[in-house]
Amino acid sequence: MKSKIDFVYVINLNTSMDEIKGRLKKIYWKQNIPYYIMPAINGWEAKPDYWKPADWWKIESDNDWWNRDVKPGECGVCLSHLKAIKAAYDADFEQVLILEEDFNPSGDFPDPNMFLEVPNDCSILFLDRNPLWPDREKKIGTHTTEALYSYNAHSYIITRKGMEEILSSNIYQNVITFDEALPAFNSTSDRQDAVDILGIDGFKQYAFDYRYFTQLSDKNTSQTENNPKITNMAPNKSKKPKYTIPNIPESKDKVEIVTFEDVNDKKWNILDTSDWDSWCKKYIHPLVLNKEYDLAIDEPAPHVYTFPLFTKEFCKEIIELSETKEWTNDRHEFYPTTDNLLEVLGMDKIYNRLINDHIKPLAVNRFWLEGKSWDYLADESFVIRYKPEEQSHLSLHHDHSSFTTLVNLNSGEFKGGGTYFPKYKCLVNPKEIGMCTLHPGNITHKHGARPVTEGIRYVVVSFIKNSDLQ
Ligand SMILES: [Fe+2]
Repeated sequence: MKSKIDFVYVINLNTSMDEIKGRLKKIYWKQNIPYYIMPAINGWEAKPDYWKPADWWKIESDNDWWNRDVKPGECGVCLSHLKAIKAAYDADFEQVLILEEDFNPSGDFPDPNMFLEVPNDCSILFLDRNPLWPDREKKIGTHTTEALYSYNAHSYIITRKGMEEILSSNIYQNVITFDEALPAFNSTSDRQDAVDILGIDGFKQYAFDYRYFTQLSDKNTSQTENNPKITNMAPNKSKKPKYTIPNIPESKDKVEIVTFEDVNDKKWNILDTSDWDSWCKKYIHPLVLNKEYDLAIDEPAPHVYTFPLFTKEFCKEIIELSETKEWTNDRHEFYPTTDNLLEVLGMDKIYNRLINDHIKPLAVNRFWLEGKSWDYLADESFVIRYKPEEQSHLSLHHDHSSFTTLVNLNSGEFKGGGTYFPKYKCLVNPKEIGMCTLHPGNITHKHGARPVTEGIRYVVVSFIKNSDLQ
């Protein structure tokens, strides 16, 4: 199977464009793909004209998803998928990615070489799913499984072959929930009646084993827990003729098509240091720039200093930039943080210059530092993200540094958090964005990060070392 994806359709009923774009930006795309946030069909409003709900769906069963008619909302979701597939087919696309609005990106995206494992007869390739019979499935490569009965169609790649197969199936006259339609096409559904009506010879489903996109809501997944028992299967219906792609009314949706190039190639002003003095004026607080230390600096505990370092623009932009990268959580063996090195953001040299130009004189002033070993400071700097459901806190530790700075990038946007120094019974959790905490590194100031209980806390931490420690 080819790795190139021509287009992304995001099926959207009522999520804001900004919210969806924000989530799309979190993905580490390995290729630039245009996308379209496509208005979904609302099943409560759609008139059955070119389509019809499956009147045979309701059967006697103790499975609550089967012993009732197909709901309007489920029809809407199915029709929305068909709308995206038809649009992709009409646009002559070879392969497209279809996402439902509640997609929740892991951040990663399959590597192009992984697609080599997927056979060319692929109709659908799941990037996440809920397999009902995992024990019966066969792994066909390091990353790939031939998918049998599966639920969850919130993230899959469909090939031209899959588009043709689905559009020429009997689905329009037998609309069921799309989660059940795919295994019916694939003839692996436990609903033999659905297979008899909707089954497509040669419809093949594969899945990458990693969960690239989970779902924000769980509303469609709960029927997968038990093996549903059918007490009385409805009689089979005869198959209707195939190859009748219906005429779907042209969509008049106003759309916005944006490419990931727009996202990935965004010009980041904080990375533009062609005029260093203007950069400093724009992003560094004037009290630090003008060395008005006695006015700027507080000392909430012995040798713990706080002062305004960066402007709001800087903080906002570095958070946005770090969210375009894949976060790591395995860099520190004993005190792992979810972080992004400034090197990864392309900011390491800029930050080092800033430390030597503006932090060094401040530290020399406060700590009464002397000698040549302070002439040039090296640093290891990274953005850390604290999140209640991810990494919410950091246990007490000493830093491996001469001194450490920590910049609070988004004070006021989360609950909890802050740096705690137990020896001084002091919690530093500034209220203003851009405030920096400076404290000695490796002996006297053991500290930890208090748990974030709500929202996300972003900080930039720098382990700063003089030449004795480098
Ligand atoms: Fe630390």
